[in-house]
Amino acid sequence: MVGSTRHTDTDDFTPSEIAAFRAETPGCRSVVHLNNAGAALVAKPVLDKHVAHLQREADIGAYEAARAAAGEVRAVYRAFAELLGCSPQEVALAPNATWAWSQAFLAMPLQSGDRILTAQSEYVSNYLAYLKRAKEVGATIDVIPNDEYGQIDTNALLRAIDERVKLISLPHVPTNGGLINPVAEVGRIARAHGIPFLLDACQSVGHLCVNVDEVGCDILATTSRKFLRGPRGMGCLYVRKRWIERLEPPVFDPQGAQWVSSDQYLLRPDACRYETWEYSVAAALALGEAVRRANAIGLPRIERRLVGLAATLRGNLNAIENVTVHDLGAHKGAIVTFDVNGLPAEAAMAALIARGFNVNITKPAFTMLDMSRRNLPDLVRASVHYYNTDEEIDAFCAEVATLARAPQHE
Ligand SMILES: Cc1ncc(COP(=O)(O)O)c(C=O)c1O
Repeated sequence: MVGSTRHTDTDDFTPSEIAAFRAETPGCRSVVHLNNAGAALVAKPVLDKHVAHLQREADIGAYEAARAAAGEVRAVYRAFAELLGCSPQEVALAPNATWAWSQAFLAMPLQSGDRILTAQSEYVSNYLAYLKRAKEVGATIDVIPNDEYGQIDTNALLRAIDERVKLISLPHVPTNGGLINPVAEVGRIARAHGIPFLLDACQSVGHLCVNVDEVGCDILATTSRKFLRGPRGMGCLYVRKRWIERLEPPVFDPQGAQWVSSDQYLLRPDACRYETWEYSVAAALALGEAVRRANAIGLPRIERRLVGLAATLRGNLNAIENVTVHDLGAHKGAIVTFDVNGLPAEAAMAALIARGFNVNITKPAFTMLDMSRRNLPDLVRASVHYYNTDEEIDAFCAEVATLARAPQHE
């Protein structure tokens, strides 16, 4: 039987607020969207911003529309600065999190023998880049073990530090489960030893309170389409002021640098040196709207609701016979991964989508160190946002229970 334990702090959002969020989110009318770690549903005002600028481009010309929107574009940087607790000059827009992260990581002056410390929960794209630098310059990748909760063991991190460590880099929230790495403790260690700290906050910005000074990271990359509820095709990079001038991006163009003479260029002094000139102004404006909306609701409230809804989901899935939840972490966030015993994750996902529940799957190839260590197959991933309701979670768990009881499991 599916339990109905509630963990949502209902005082945080009134039912009428939730109803209003749902009313302004067209997707809530047609699906139960539990793929927010993939791409969340955009709110109508965000969609309107996006479409209005596209319309303007069609009406008056794209360069002309960009010129007219220049003030609004600057406000996008201010919105991110408010969200992350930094200055707008430390913010760069990017086409996605991987691009943002790579512009900074590939700028790191690593040499043979330099060590990169990372976590077991590291994401595929980041690890591929470590491998590239290891191959090209002879840097060493050291994966810090987990503690008993499955998060990075900060004592082991401390013990691993020596004069050859030139970067600490890890995901805040991995793609494959509820784990929230203890990043503020990592930041304290990094600062105490003067080591740059690069945070992959792709799954945490818009989901958890992420203040760059509280976390103590020097660089942070995130994406638009996930918990921020922005459009696809945008991301954001934060680089702490004192690091901007030290890191020359691998790719720049007239947006980031000035061609001064036949043998000279001059990079911009702000984080826009990591940007390239061509981008979707419409998507940037829509992302700005999404960030402003997150700021207005307040990340502490959003975090409490997401953590509460996910705890309800996790608890109720755990109570279903033949269903196993695989999330790690002393504190868990909005992402819940599980398997329905004996049913391939692809088939479970297809069955759930056919019944109106959007979920995704997470594969060992995305977080190979963690999934292979735990010997896990593909898992179903359900991830909540504040517009999800307890009733949706009950209906979803009932559907999963039906799948778990299906003849192939008897
Ligand atoms: C933890 C993590 N890091 C990085 C990325 C890459 O983000 P993007 O696809 O925006 O480049 C993802 C994408 O799912 C992710 O989950």
